[in-house]
Amino acid sequence: MDDLKAKYLGRIADAADESALEAIRLAAIGKKGEVALKMRELGKMTPEERQIAGPAMNALKAEITSALAARKAALHDAALDERLRGEWLDVTLPARDRRQGTIHPVSQVTEEVTAIFAEMGFSVAEGPRIDTDWYNFDALNIPAHHPARAEMDTFYMHRDADDDRPPNVLRTHTSPVQIRSMEKTGAPTRIICPGGVYRADYDQTHTPMFHQVEGLAIDRDISMANLKWVLEEFFAAFFEVDGIKTRFRASHFPFTEPSAEVDIQCSWVDGQLRIGEGDDWMEVLGSGMVHPSVLRAGGIDPDEWQGFAFGMGIDRIAMLKYGIPDLRAFFDSDLRWLRHYGFASLDVPTLHGGLSR
Ligand code: DAH
Repeated sequence: MDDLKAKYLGRIADAADESALEAIRLAAIGKKGEVALKMRELGKMTPEERQIAGPAMNALKAEITSALAARKAALHDAALDERLRGEWLDVTLPARDRRQGTIHPVSQVTEEVTAIFAEMGFSVAEGPRIDTDWYNFDALNIPAHHPARAEMDTFYMHRDADDDRPPNVLRTHTSPVQIRSMEKTGAPTRIICPGGVYRADYDQTHTPMFHQVEGLAIDRDISMANLKWVLEEFFAAFFEVDGIKTRFRASHFPFTEPSAEVDIQCSWVDGQLRIGEGDDWMEVLGSGMVHPSVLRAGGIDPDEWQGFAFGMGIDRIAMLKYGIPDLRAFFDSDLRWLRHYGFASLDVPTLHGGLSR
């Protein structure tokens, strides 16, 4: 039995794979294996002999069985190690520079704006870029023949000559999303709506398609003070300057009453614009308390609810923050421009991680 033990434990230790192990198992402890054959001899033994040989044979069988299991596990681990070595992949390897796309400043700034307002409890709402005349104008207290319509340089969609409905428009601002959002969620509400808008205009600071972000907050006791606080928080976070000053100038929009245009503090040093210091002012947005007719158009009772709204140019604040001089280049798809002004694709702006790096 000692010979058998030495022989099989040796073979098990040398076995190179699972099929070799299986052959050894059969040869040793299979039905016709050597150990099994030996066990048959027990029958011919005297009871005394059997009392010694029986347990010894069982022990031998058990020892071979556990040696087989241990070797099997070791082979399995080795195979897994081998496979892991073969399939190893360094996920931290940077992408090849020339193939790395960048995030467009408009997308970057949209993400930044969204992160800041999200922190203040605003969610993102969306609406269509082709909208009806009613959502873009009437519902916002701009009836037909109102001078504000003429000022907008609106793109109108085609209507057949025998169709007397007013033509749809490429939305001239994100304000129609105020109405859509009121209809959908009612009051109270707090939303921003970033997105593309269209006007027939083209020069260094105007392109026929550009981006705005609309803001709307409706509740039972909202005032201009809330508007001012929210905007000051926003500008401090966005321009990453604490205590940036704002100036509210009385203005007029059909959809707000009272209305204010908002300027932020800036200075010009050697022809360079600096935001958040000095005693010049830069106009950045329009805002006010939502006009009762606008609330009504959105299905909200103005005797019960009030709100503030604002609209701001995303491209414009992108130009201010990142020192980009010409708006037209935003939409030229010139790869050199995109590489220069683009942002790394994995740096998602968050308030805790930093908005821009
Ligand atoms: N819709 C205006 C525009 O495009 C911007 C604006 C002004 C939006 C005042 C507002 C607001 O929500 O209250 O020029």
